[in-house]
Amino acid sequence: MRKKVTVVGAGFYGSTTAQRLAEYDIFDTVVLTDIIEGKPEGLALDLNQSRPVEGYETKVVGVTTGPAGEGYEALEGSHVVIITAGLPRKPGMSRMDLLEVNAKIVRQVAENVAKFAPQAVVVVVSNPLDEMTALTQMATGFPRERVMGQAGVLDTARFTHFVAEELGVAVGSVRTLTLGSHGDTMVPVPSQCTVDGRPLAEVLPADRIEALVDRTRNGGAEVVALLKTGSAYYAPSAAAARMARAIAEDSGAVIPVCAWVDGEFGISGVYLGVQAELGAQGVRRVVETPLTDAELAGLREAAEAVRAKQADVASL
Ligand SMILES: NC(=O)c1ccc[n+]([C@@H]2O[C@H](COP(=O)([O-])OP(=O)(O)OC[C@H]3O[C@@H](n4cnc5c(N)ncnc54)[C@H](O)[C@@H]3O)[C@@H](O)[C@H]2O)c1
Repeated sequence: MRKKVTVVGAGFYGSTTAQRLAEYDIFDTVVLTDIIEGKPEGLALDLNQSRPVEGYETKVVGVTTGPAGEGYEALEGSHVVIITAGLPRKPGMSRMDLLEVNAKIVRQVAENVAKFAPQAVVVVVSNPLDEMTALTQMATGFPRERVMGQAGVLDTARFTHFVAEELGVAVGSVRTLTLGSHGDTMVPVPSQCTVDGRPLAEVLPADRIEALVDRTRNGGAEVVALLKTGSAYYAPSAAAARMARAIAEDSGAVIPVCAWVDGEFGISGVYLGVQAELGAQGVRRVVETPLTDAELAGLREAAEAVRAKQADVASL
C-alpha cells in the first residue's frame, strides 16, 4: 500500500512527525508545509538524504504556503493530513493561553485542507487540542468521524513510562489509559491499567498511583519547564504518526484519541478523549471502555469543561 500523507507546520512537532512517517516506509509521499519560506523545503531535502542510510523509499516534499492558500495544491490526494501549525507553550503558559492565536492559524489551515484535500482524514495536534479539533471540524465541514485530535496516545504513553520507571519493569509489560481532555481535566483510568496483566492497584499503593497520575496530567508542562523554549515533540510526534499509520493502513486499531462523542458514556455533542477504532475513514466507532463510577464522573466532568470552550471557538 502506497499513500500520501501531509504534515502542516514544519516546526519541531511537524518535522519529527514527517521523519517518523517517512521512516515507516509505507507512504509514497510525505508532504511537509510551513509558512516560513525554505524551511519545509530544507527539512525535506535533509530527510530525503537520510533515505540511503535508513533504507526507506518514501519521498518527502517540502512546500512553503502563502496567506492566500498558495502552495496548498500540494495537499491534493492526501489520505491523511496532520495539522501541527501554531505556537507551542512557553514555561508558565497553559494550553488555553494559545487559544486565540492558534485559532486563527488553524482555521486558515483547515479551510485550505477542505479545499485541496476534501477526502482526507484530519489529525489535529495544535493546542489547545480539544478546541482546535472542534474548530477544524467546523472550518472544514468534514463529517465528524474524519476529524480527530491527538492527545490520548501521548498522555497514555507518558503514564506508561512513569509506571514502568517506578516499578523498574519494561514499558512493554505496562498498559495504561487516559481519557478526557488534553489538559486539567485529563482522566487517567487506573482501573484499566495493568502490569504483566495484573491490575495496577495490586502492584502499586494508591498514593503512588495518584502521584504518577498527577505527573502524567502535568507531563507536558514538565517538559516545557525544562526546555524553556518550546514544548515536547518526540513522544507527541510518535503519537500522531501512529494514528496516521492506523488510518492509512485501515487497521482497526483501538487507540485513545480526541473524537466526537455522540451518546457514548451518556455524553453527547463534544470532542473528547476516548478510545476509538481507527480506519481509512477516520473514527469507525467510539469504544465504551468499562469505567468505575469515579472515572465515569471524571469523564463527564471533562466533557462539560470542554463543551463550552468548544462552542466558543466558532466565533474565533
Ligand atoms: N496535542 C499534543 O499532544 C501536543 C503536544 C506537543 C505540542 N503540541 C502543539 O503542537 C503545535 C506545534 O508545536 P511545535 O513544537 O512544532 O511548535 P514550533 O513553533 O516548533 O512549530 C510551529 C510551526 O508552525 C508554523 N506555522 C505557523 N502558522 C502556520 C500556518 N498558517 N501554516 C503552516 N505552518 C504554520 C510555524 O512557522 C512553525 O514552523 C503547538 O500548538 C503545540 O502546542 C500539541
